[in-house]
Amino acid sequence: MQKPEKPQNGDPRSRPNKAVFIITFGCQMNEADSEAIAAAFRRRGYALTDEIKKADAVVVNTCTVRQKAEDKAISQIGRLRVWKEKRPEGNIFVVGCAAQKLGGKYLKNRFPFVDEVVGAKAIDQFEDALITQLGPSPEAETSHQNIYRSPQTAYVTIMRGCSLKCSYCIVPAVRGPAVFLSPEAILKDAAGKLKAGAKEIVLLGQTVNAYRHGKTTFAELLKKVLALPGLARLRFMSPHPVYFDKAFTAILKAEPKLARHIHLPVQSGSDRILKAMRRGYTAKEYLALIAGLRQAAPGLAVSTDFIVGYPGETEEDFQATLALVAAGRFSMAYCFKYSPRTDRPEMKADIPEAELEKRLERLLAAVKTNSLLVLKERIGKIEEVLFETETYGRASGNFAVRVKTAAAPGRLEKVLIASAEKNTLNGKLP
Ligand code: SAH
Ligand code: SF4
Ligand code: F3S
Repeated sequence: MQKPEKPQNGDPRSRPNKAVFIITFGCQMNEADSEAIAAAFRRRGYALTDEIKKADAVVVNTCTVRQKAEDKAISQIGRLRVWKEKRPEGNIFVVGCAAQKLGGKYLKNRFPFVDEVVGAKAIDQFEDALITQLGPSPEAETSHQNIYRSPQTAYVTIMRGCSLKCSYCIVPAVRGPAVFLSPEAILKDAAGKLKAGAKEIVLLGQTVNAYRHGKTTFAELLKKVLALPGLARLRFMSPHPVYFDKAFTAILKAEPKLARHIHLPVQSGSDRILKAMRRGYTAKEYLALIAGLRQAAPGLAVSTDFIVGYPGETEEDFQATLALVAAGRFSMAYCFKYSPRTDRPEMKADIPEAELEKRLERLLAAVKTNSLLVLKERIGKIEEVLFETETYGRASGNFAVRVKTAAAPGRLEKVLIASAEKNTLNGKLP
């Protein structure tokens, strides 16, 4: 076919050759939103840049789960003042959870150089903000690009928001109640990303295993995704302990493509604190749950999240958390200092900072000792590794694995584990 003489809309030659710099705070949900934002820019001919100096537009995707996260986002926005002075025609977009919490009025007032504010609840309307600033998009579809993980791994959002009411958590307020995407939309997204070269899919949501759309349950959705051609491995994040059921356990048992790793936040080992947090389980129930999952999938790695210093947490409560670290045999755990997200007096942080620091250090030490034990259990075993580079990949249990001999990126290979150090397993290809 003859090419038209002049570049037309949609023709790559008409692309403006501009660049967007996207900075993302917070969780995978935000990362997935940033990938969609990057795609919307790409449709307008913008490439991604990691040098803000070369950018024509900047997006700050914010988090507010803890005060520190919000503070970081705010100071990042503040630093853009100079960028905008040097480039008055540049566009600044502030999006995400802190944008939702603080609101456009407040943010634009405090930072008048910000062009558009789009809160997490309204992220579907990001395209409207882009149209206001840059005009309509000349291209309808764009190829997918994984930004935050290796090219082998693609995020697929299956739900937005959260309908639980954990006492400490701001997510339901800034992301709204749970809304589940249709299985058709999810499968289309996943199939497209696999076709574009992804080998591993990560299904995303705040209570991902609560998924239900019409008659489709989480277990049924997993089956459908597992049947997609080209899929080597399926992960999901983050599930909540109260939503696992027998149907899930059966799939875990039967489907080796379902990763032998679950990130299952527990938050505390004290039943009194868990109750105050409104988590809906006791420490014993949590441990029984992971024991059942490990029975179905021997060698299943479980990682978790802890909050230290929840209001009223006593030394005894904290010791229950330490006991849970040992009993849970976690491969990894994120440990957070409690950060009040409301002004309600009973939710005030009431553990003195010095004591809080000490508890955090004790918890981190316990997690480290324990996870090294878990890692060392893998020595002498064969791990199936999805290679990201010629010498580095991830085992099904999500452990980082290094080999000296060259493997093929994007391939699943069996690796014999010879040693373990820090967070990494070293092995060789047989
Ligand atoms: N939806 C997931 C977690 C979302 S937030 C779940 O329910 O498991 C990610 C983690 O941030 C939480 O697991 C929790 O450990 C931590 N977190 C949430 N709110 C917090 C707060 N106010 N202070 C400290 N840590 C918090
Ligand atoms: Fe927050 Fe997770 Fe609880 Fe939802 S389930 S309220 S996102 S901690
Ligand atoms: Fe932060 Fe929003 Fe995620 S508050 S942790 S970016 S859902």
